[in-house]
Amino acid sequence: MTEQSNRSLLITGGTGGLGTAVVRRLSAEYTCYVLYRSEQAWQALTEEVGASQRLHGLKADLADADAVRRSVEQIRATSGPLYGLVHLAGGFEMGSVQETTLESWNNLLTSNLTGAFTAIQAVLPQLREQNTGRIITIGSSTVAGRPGGLAGYVVSKAGLNALTEVVANELKDTRVTANILLLGSLATPPMLQHMSGEQLVPLERVADTIAFLLSDTAANISGASIPVIVTGQS
Ligand SMILES: NC(=O)c1ccc[n+]([C@@H]2O[C@H](COP(=O)([O-])OP(=O)(O)OC[C@H]3O[C@@H](n4cnc5c(N)ncnc54)[C@H](OP(=O)(O)O)[C@@H]3O)[C@@H](O)[C@H]2O)c1
Repeated sequence: MTEQSNRSLLITGGTGGLGTAVVRRLSAEYTCYVLYRSEQAWQALTEEVGASQRLHGLKADLADADAVRRSVEQIRATSGPLYGLVHLAGGFEMGSVQETTLESWNNLLTSNLTGAFTAIQAVLPQLREQNTGRIITIGSSTVAGRPGGLAGYVVSKAGLNALTEVVANELKDTRVTANILLLGSLATPPMLQHMSGEQLVPLERVADTIAFLLSDTAANISGASIPVIVTGQS
């Protein structure tokens, strides 16, 4: 048994387009607990990546802080303290400040920012107790320029950037790291309907970058915003 297989991860957004590739990659090495909202999505994920003794599902909506906390406590009871949080969950909607409805604004803040807060807050006691571990969040490379037309998305992902940096600072007295990946457009099935693969970031590259940040080699990288983008294009 490798050291990794004794380490447990909480993965949010594991049922999404990126999530499938990340869960496939990480469940080969780590014990993975995927937080899902719908049984159907969880079923589809296990069919896609294959059932494994290292892959487990827990049903909770990230908007429900108590449910997230209960799930994390359940992991501890089954596998001991968590090693890491891989927070992939997020949402996307277009719309300028003028066009964005309050409902859309609130949905984006919940899926991109509040969900990260509930997940990070739930795992922190276990990571602090172990004094070692990883928090990895997923932002967007488009956010840096604060473009118009994506108001709720840009503001919520910018908030996620700040949250990740704040928690990295709060963890400076531990061996727990926190980093955010700033992703370009991904080669997910919906994106591949509109763009060619060369214009998109391969999902396996993102999964490999996450695996690197989880590894012992990355133990001294914290508070970083790391672009994972399409290269070789102007
Ligand atoms: N796709 C891109 O080109 C792109 C580019 C830059 C950054 N990103 C970021 O990369 C991440 C993954 O993207 P993706 O394309 O894989 O997205 P996706 O296919 O839409 O998947 C989003 C995932 O987040 C989950 N989720 C959303 N809100 C949740 C909540 N309140 N509670 C629990 N789970 C929740 C969804 O669960 P359900 O299955 O229940 O809906 C789904 O598993 C996101 O954070 C996204 O913003 C994506």
